[in-house]
Amino acid sequence: MIVVIDGPAGSGKSSTAKAVADRLGIQYLDSGALYRAVTLVYIKSNLNRTTFFDQLKSIKISFRYIDSFFHVYINSEEVSQEIRTMNVSDKVSEVASMPEVSAYVNRLMNDAVKHDEYIADGRDLGTAVFPNAAMKFFMIAELETRAKRRLLELKSQGSNVTLEQILLNISERDQKDSSRKADPLRKADDAIEIDTSSFIFEEQVGFISEKIRPLVKSKTK
Ligand code: C5P
Repeated sequence: MIVVIDGPAGSGKSSTAKAVADRLGIQYLDSGALYRAVTLVYIKSNLNRTTFFDQLKSIKISFRYIDSFFHVYINSEEVSQEIRTMNVSDKVSEVASMPEVSAYVNRLMNDAVKHDEYIADGRDLGTAVFPNAAMKFFMIAELETRAKRRLLELKSQGSNVTLEQILLNISERDQKDSSRKADPLRKADDAIEIDTSSFIFEEQVGFISEKIRPLVKSKTK
Protein backbone atom coordinates (compact mmCIF):
# COMPACT_ATOMS: atom_id res chain seq x y z
CA MET A 1 0.00 0.00 0.00
CA ILE A 2 1.36 3.40 -0.95
CA VAL A 3 -0.06 6.83 -0.14
CA VAL A 4 1.62 9.91 -1.61
CA ILE A 5 1.94 13.59 -0.74
CA ASP A 6 3.28 15.89 -3.43
CA GLY A 7 3.85 19.63 -3.35
CA PRO A 8 6.45 22.39 -3.62
CA ALA A 9 9.45 22.82 -1.28
CA GLY A 10 8.56 23.66 2.30
CA SER A 11 4.82 23.03 1.95
CA GLY A 12 4.91 20.77 5.01
CA LYS A 13 4.88 17.43 3.19
CA SER A 14 7.68 15.69 5.03
CA SER A 15 6.80 16.69 8.60
CA THR A 16 3.16 15.80 7.93
CA ALA A 17 4.00 12.48 6.25
CA LYS A 18 6.30 11.48 9.13
CA ALA A 19 3.68 12.31 11.75
CA VAL A 20 1.05 10.33 9.81
CA ALA A 21 3.45 7.38 9.39
CA ASP A 22 4.17 7.35 13.14
CA ARG A 23 0.51 7.62 14.05
CA LEU A 24 -0.52 4.75 11.78
CA GLY A 25 2.59 2.55 12.23
CA ILE A 26 3.55 2.59 8.56
CA GLN A 27 6.84 3.42 6.79
CA TYR A 28 7.86 6.86 5.56
CA LEU A 29 9.74 7.42 2.31
CA ASP A 30 11.38 10.79 1.54
CA SER A 31 11.89 10.81 -2.24
CA GLY A 32 13.57 14.25 -2.13
CA ALA A 33 16.26 12.81 0.17
CA LEU A 34 17.06 10.18 -2.48
CA TYR A 35 17.41 12.90 -5.14
CA ARG A 36 19.65 14.77 -2.71
CA ALA A 37 21.86 11.69 -2.18
CA VAL A 38 22.22 11.28 -5.94
CA THR A 39 23.10 15.00 -6.15
CA LEU A 40 25.87 14.44 -3.62
CA VAL A 41 27.27 11.74 -5.90
CA TYR A 42 27.14 14.30 -8.76
CA ILE A 43 28.97 16.93 -6.69
CA LYS A 44 31.60 14.36 -5.66
CA SER A 45 32.03 13.50 -9.34
CA ASN A 46 33.10 17.16 -9.83
CA LEU A 47 29.90 17.79 -11.81
CA ASN A 48 31.27 15.62 -14.61
CA ARG A 49 28.32 13.76 -16.13
CA THR A 50 30.36 10.86 -17.53
CA THR A 51 32.01 10.17 -14.18
CA PHE A 52 28.67 10.67 -12.44
CA PHE A 53 26.73 8.19 -14.61
CA ASP A 54 29.53 5.64 -14.11
CA GLN A 55 29.40 6.18 -10.35
CA LEU A 56 25.63 5.78 -10.35
CA LYS A 57 26.05 2.27 -11.80
CA SER A 58 28.46 1.16 -9.10
CA ILE A 59 27.18 2.77 -5.88
CA LYS A 60 24.31 1.63 -3.67
CA ILE A 61 21.92 4.15 -2.14
CA SER A 62 19.83 2.82 0.73
CA PHE A 63 17.55 4.26 3.40
CA ARG A 64 15.87 3.43 6.69
CA TYR A 65 13.16 5.19 8.66
CA ILE A 66 13.88 4.85 12.37
CA ASP A 67 12.51 6.86 15.32
CA SER A 68 10.97 9.53 13.09
CA PHE A 69 14.22 10.09 11.19
CA PHE A 70 14.85 9.23 7.55
CA HIS A 71 18.41 7.92 7.26
CA VAL A 72 20.12 7.83 3.86
CA TYR A 73 23.32 5.98 2.98
CA ILE A 74 25.67 5.96 0.00
CA ASN A 75 27.21 2.49 0.14
CA SER A 76 27.63 2.14 3.92
CA GLU A 77 28.27 5.84 4.67
CA GLU A 78 25.43 7.80 6.24
CA VAL A 79 24.83 11.10 4.38
CA SER A 80 21.58 12.20 6.07
CA GLN A 81 23.05 15.53 7.29
CA GLU A 82 25.25 16.25 4.28
CA ILE A 83 22.33 16.07 1.84
CA ARG A 84 20.62 19.02 3.63
CA THR A 85 23.39 21.55 2.93
CA MET A 86 22.70 24.51 0.61
CA ASN A 87 25.39 23.14 -1.68
CA VAL A 88 23.16 20.17 -2.42
CA SER A 89 19.90 22.21 -2.36
CA ASP A 90 21.27 24.52 -5.05
CA LYS A 91 22.03 21.64 -7.45
CA VAL A 92 19.29 19.12 -6.72
CA SER A 93 16.62 20.31 -9.18
CA GLU A 94 19.11 20.32 -12.05
CA VAL A 95 20.13 16.74 -11.18
CA ALA A 96 16.53 15.61 -10.68
CA SER A 97 15.66 16.78 -14.19
CA MET A 98 18.09 14.22 -15.73
CA PRO A 99 16.02 11.24 -16.98
CA GLU A 100 18.74 8.78 -15.87
CA VAL A 101 18.43 10.11 -12.34
CA SER A 102 14.64 9.95 -12.07
CA ALA A 103 14.74 6.42 -13.53
CA TYR A 104 17.30 5.44 -10.86
CA VAL A 105 15.36 6.98 -7.95
CA ASN A 106 12.01 5.68 -9.16
CA ARG A 107 13.40 2.14 -9.36
CA LEU A 108 14.73 2.40 -5.80
CA MET A 109 11.33 3.54 -4.56
CA ASN A 110 9.30 0.98 -6.49
CA ASP A 111 11.47 -1.83 -5.11
CA ALA A 112 11.07 -0.58 -1.54
CA VAL A 113 7.32 -0.18 -1.45
CA LYS A 114 6.67 -3.74 -2.62
CA HIS A 115 7.41 -5.04 0.85
CA ASP A 116 5.55 -2.77 3.27
CA GLU A 117 2.94 -0.05 3.74
CA TYR A 118 4.26 3.43 2.95
CA ILE A 119 3.50 7.11 2.92
CA ALA A 120 5.91 8.93 0.60
CA ASP A 121 6.42 12.59 -0.24
CA GLY A 122 7.79 14.22 -3.37
CA ARG A 123 6.94 16.19 -6.50
CA ASP A 124 5.78 13.70 -9.13
CA LEU A 125 4.70 10.69 -7.09
CA GLY A 126 0.95 10.94 -7.73
CA THR A 127 1.32 11.85 -11.40
CA ALA A 128 4.23 9.67 -12.55
CA VAL A 129 5.83 7.31 -10.03
CA PHE A 130 2.77 5.88 -8.28
CA PRO A 131 -0.21 6.77 -10.50
CA ASN A 132 -2.19 3.98 -8.81
CA ALA A 133 -1.41 5.08 -5.23
CA ALA A 134 -4.13 4.15 -2.74
CA MET A 135 -4.58 7.84 -1.91
CA LYS A 136 -2.96 11.08 -3.07
CA PHE A 137 -2.56 14.46 -1.42
CA PHE A 138 -1.17 17.71 -2.79
CA MET A 139 0.08 20.32 -0.30
CA ILE A 140 0.53 23.98 -1.04
CA ALA A 141 1.41 27.09 1.01
CA GLU A 142 2.53 30.65 0.29
CA LEU A 143 6.20 31.09 -0.60
CA GLU A 144 6.97 33.25 2.47
CA THR A 145 5.38 30.69 4.83
CA ARG A 146 7.35 27.86 3.21
CA ALA A 147 10.65 29.75 3.38
CA LYS A 148 10.17 30.59 7.07
CA ARG A 149 9.44 26.93 7.85
CA ARG A 150 12.60 25.81 6.03
CA LEU A 151 14.61 28.49 7.87
CA LEU A 152 13.48 27.20 11.29
CA GLU A 153 14.25 23.61 10.26
CA LEU A 154 17.76 24.44 9.03
CA LYS A 155 18.55 26.74 12.01
CA SER A 156 17.58 23.94 14.39
CA GLN A 157 20.23 21.82 12.63
CA GLY A 158 22.88 24.51 13.29
CA SER A 159 22.88 26.09 9.81
CA ASN A 160 23.55 29.85 9.47
CA VAL A 161 21.57 30.22 6.25
CA THR A 162 19.48 33.41 5.79
CA LEU A 163 15.80 33.80 4.87
CA GLU A 164 16.83 35.53 1.62
CA GLN A 165 18.99 32.55 0.58
CA ILE A 166 16.12 30.17 1.27
CA LEU A 167 13.56 32.32 -0.55
CA LEU A 168 15.82 32.36 -3.58
CA ASN A 169 16.57 28.64 -3.39
CA ILE A 170 12.99 27.45 -3.06
CA SER A 171 11.55 29.82 -5.65
CA GLU A 172 14.20 28.71 -8.14
CA ARG A 173 13.59 25.04 -7.35
CA ASP A 174 9.80 25.46 -7.67
CA GLN A 175 10.32 27.11 -11.03
CA LYS A 176 12.64 24.32 -12.27
CA ASP A 177 10.53 21.52 -10.78
CA SER A 178 7.29 22.86 -12.32
CA SER A 179 8.69 23.63 -15.75
CA ARG A 180 10.88 20.58 -16.40
CA LYS A 181 9.99 18.47 -19.44
CA ALA A 182 9.60 15.10 -17.75
CA ASP A 183 7.08 14.70 -14.93
CA PRO A 184 6.94 18.28 -13.64
CA LEU A 185 5.52 19.21 -10.24
CA ARG A 186 1.76 19.19 -10.72
CA LYS A 187 -1.31 18.12 -8.77
CA ALA A 188 -2.67 14.75 -9.92
CA ASP A 189 -6.32 15.00 -10.98
CA ASP A 190 -7.34 12.61 -8.21
CA ALA A 191 -5.24 14.21 -5.43
CA ILE A 192 -6.82 15.96 -2.44
CA GLU A 193 -5.41 19.49 -2.20
CA ILE A 194 -4.50 20.91 1.22
CA ASP A 195 -3.42 24.52 1.74
CA THR A 196 -1.18 24.23 4.78
CA SER A 197 -0.99 28.03 5.36
CA SER A 198 -4.47 27.86 6.83
CA PHE A 199 -4.22 24.50 8.65
CA ILE A 200 -2.92 23.84 12.14
CA PHE A 201 -0.29 21.08 11.91
CA GLU A 202 -2.12 18.68 14.25
CA GLU A 203 -5.38 19.12 12.31
CA GLN A 204 -3.61 18.41 9.06
CA VAL A 205 -2.06 15.21 10.44
CA GLY A 206 -5.41 14.15 11.91
CA PHE A 207 -7.26 14.84 8.64
CA ILE A 208 -4.86 12.77 6.51
CA SER A 209 -4.49 9.97 9.08
CA GLU A 210 -8.26 9.46 9.30
CA LYS A 211 -8.54 9.32 5.51
CA ILE A 212 -5.80 6.68 5.27
CA ARG A 213 -6.58 4.64 8.39
CA PRO A 214 -9.16 2.35 6.72
CA LEU A 215 -6.54 1.35 4.12
CA VAL A 216 -3.88 0.33 6.65
CA LYS A 217 -3.66 -3.36 7.46
CA SER A 218 -0.65 -3.56 9.73
CA LYS A 219 0.55 -2.94 13.24
CA THR A 220 -0.29 -0.27 15.78
CA LYS A 221 -2.86 2.07 14.13
O1 C5P B 1 11.73 17.33 -0.96
P1 C5P B 1 13.03 18.05 -1.19
O2 C5P B 1 12.88 19.54 -1.13
O3 C5P B 1 14.13 17.54 -0.33
O4 C5P B 1 13.40 17.66 -2.70
C1 C5P B 1 14.59 18.10 -3.30
C2 C5P B 1 14.43 18.17 -4.82
O5 C5P B 1 14.37 16.84 -5.36
C3 C5P B 1 13.22 18.90 -5.37
O6 C5P B 1 13.37 20.31 -5.43
C4 C5P B 1 13.09 18.28 -6.76
O7 C5P B 1 13.98 18.91 -7.66
C5 C5P B 1 13.57 16.85 -6.55
N1 C5P B 1 12.47 15.89 -6.42
C6 C5P B 1 11.87 15.41 -7.55
N2 C5P B 1 10.88 14.47 -7.46
C7 C5P B 1 10.49 14.01 -6.26
C8 C5P B 1 11.09 14.51 -5.07
C9 C5P B 1 12.07 15.48 -5.18
O8 C5P B 1 12.22 15.80 -8.65
N3 C5P B 1 9.55 13.06 -6.20
